[in-house]
Amino acid sequence: MNIAPIRIAPSILSADFSQLGEEVRAIEAAGADLVHFDVMDNHYVPNLTIGPLVCEAIRPHVSIPIDVHLMVEPVDALVPMFAKAGANIISFHPEASRHVDRTLGLIRDHGCRAGLVLNPATPLGVLDHTLDKLDLVLLMSVNPGFGGQKFIDSTLDKLQQVRARIDSHLRDGGEPIWLEVDGGVNAGNIADIARAGADTFVAGSAVFGAPDAGGGYRTIMQRLRDEATKFAR
Ligand code: DX5
Ligand code: ZN
Repeated sequence: MNIAPIRIAPSILSADFSQLGEEVRAIEAAGADLVHFDVMDNHYVPNLTIGPLVCEAIRPHVSIPIDVHLMVEPVDALVPMFAKAGANIISFHPEASRHVDRTLGLIRDHGCRAGLVLNPATPLGVLDHTLDKLDLVLLMSVNPGFGGQKFIDSTLDKLQQVRARIDSHLRDGGEPIWLEVDGGVNAGNIADIARAGADTFVAGSAVFGAPDAGGGYRTIMQRLRDEATKFAR
């Protein structure tokens, strides 16, 4: 069996912002594969969070990739800023960019991997003409804007559909498109999410709010990975 890699991406939205450097070092030491970085603009989403300056500030603290999730509108002006600040992956919501194809190209031109984020009610048609320019599809399993929400179960069916599309999309070499899920992921549901086809798992409150959080996040990270690996494809 071909075991696809499992990637765990703790969302620092739920971290202690008063000591972010320490927090990202702790998740890397605990085995995180990516740092998930939630950017909210109080326009595309009601909440307001962090920008390129904070990305630049945490960059020297970790060697794992920084996975920037832009919940902003418009998108393009922030792409070069985040690339310069050390982002490795930049994802955006297609309805927030007037020219989706151009924004995807812009992200890659700046040396980053490009992702599209689909909200719970966003149909999959946006993938029809974009898969060639995509490195990652991020399915929201909550409505974007806040951490700590409940996983929306219909995401499982949607994940299966996106998985089928990715698997049947012919790539001329290179790494397969990642399928990431974001919102309400925890140790109790990650196995079902992995079985539905996700390979990359954002977890905010499940990691930073874990009971052993003081112990450096190792136990929760291992638990998430073990559960997800149970059903690795
Ligand atoms: C929501 C953010 C998520 C969020 C996930 O808009 O995109 O990354 O932080 O948090 P949890 O894992 O707590 O649902
Ligand atoms: Zn996110």
